[in-house]
Amino acid sequence: MAFRDASLEALFRLLRQTSGLILTADKAYLVESRLKPVSALLGFTDVERFVDYLALAPSANAVQLTVEAMATHETSFFRDQVPFDRLRTDLLPTLLKQKTATAPLRILCAACSSGQEPLSLAMMLDEMGLLPRVQITAFDISEPILEKARSGTYSAFQVNRGLTPERIARHFTKTGDNFVAQPRLMQTIFYRSLNILSSLSGIGNFDIVFCRNVLIYFDDATKTQILKTLSHCTEPNGVLILGSSETLLRENRAFVPEKNGRGIFIHQPAAVLHSARAASA
Ligand SMILES: C[S@@+](CC[C@H](N)C(=O)[O-])C[C@H]1O[C@@H](n2cnc3c(N)ncnc32)[C@H](O)[C@@H]1O
Repeated sequence: MAFRDASLEALFRLLRQTSGLILTADKAYLVESRLKPVSALLGFTDVERFVDYLALAPSANAVQLTVEAMATHETSFFRDQVPFDRLRTDLLPTLLKQKTATAPLRILCAACSSGQEPLSLAMMLDEMGLLPRVQITAFDISEPILEKARSGTYSAFQVNRGLTPERIARHFTKTGDNFVAQPRLMQTIFYRSLNILSSLSGIGNFDIVFCRNVLIYFDDATKTQILKTLSHCTEPNGVLILGSSETLLRENRAFVPEKNGRGIFIHQPAAVLHSARAASA
């Protein structure tokens, strides 16, 4: 498969500008495999012609389908167990001490893919008796993946990736070959179609922000911008959870690493940091 260099570069630029996704020439093989179905759907005779078209003046629909096809949606229930354990054992109890007994607990799942991450949180909070207090907002850039999330329907393979038989029995109803999440869990999750590169203004303020396994696809400038945006919607002393291999950038001033946890950070707004530094001086 031989793409024109100029078209490939234009495609990479388009992806970076619209979704933040960074692709380089060594990933050209992904372009062929992931865009072939989209090019066929849109009536192109081959994927090279579709990539040439994307470099010209593509329709919004073609751009949206391209971003969705190029994004990686890999996820699973209770992925990288550690943050869930840490939330249950100490991070949540600490957060709850700072709230009145009935105040809602607000959680954001950025780049939630097909919903396994927010549903894992809902299951855990249900088991802790906290579900009635919880509001989870979950968003992704991909409408088709959000449709799957909103359906709350998973295959046997998907539920068996990360869930015990006890959890499956407690939180899902078997319907044909599939498993459907219980309405009490689904009712706590509000799914939205959003681009993490946008300002996220009006989305609200959250005690806990999950943003896992998406920053790895972005360059440093984009990561810096996203961390700034997330700091604006995280409560002071709120918790930011990144993927276990993801780190903050030095330019970030708002989040500080939590002492015992890889990928766990506490929001310390400038005023708090400033007075802590002044006290220790
Ligand atoms: C690898 S999945 C991670 C899912 C989940 N957070 C986890 O860790 O299991 C990455 C998700 O990020 C989404 N994504 C990529 N670029 C995005 C953007 N600019 N805004 C919002 N979501 C984005 C993709 O559609 C995909 O579903």
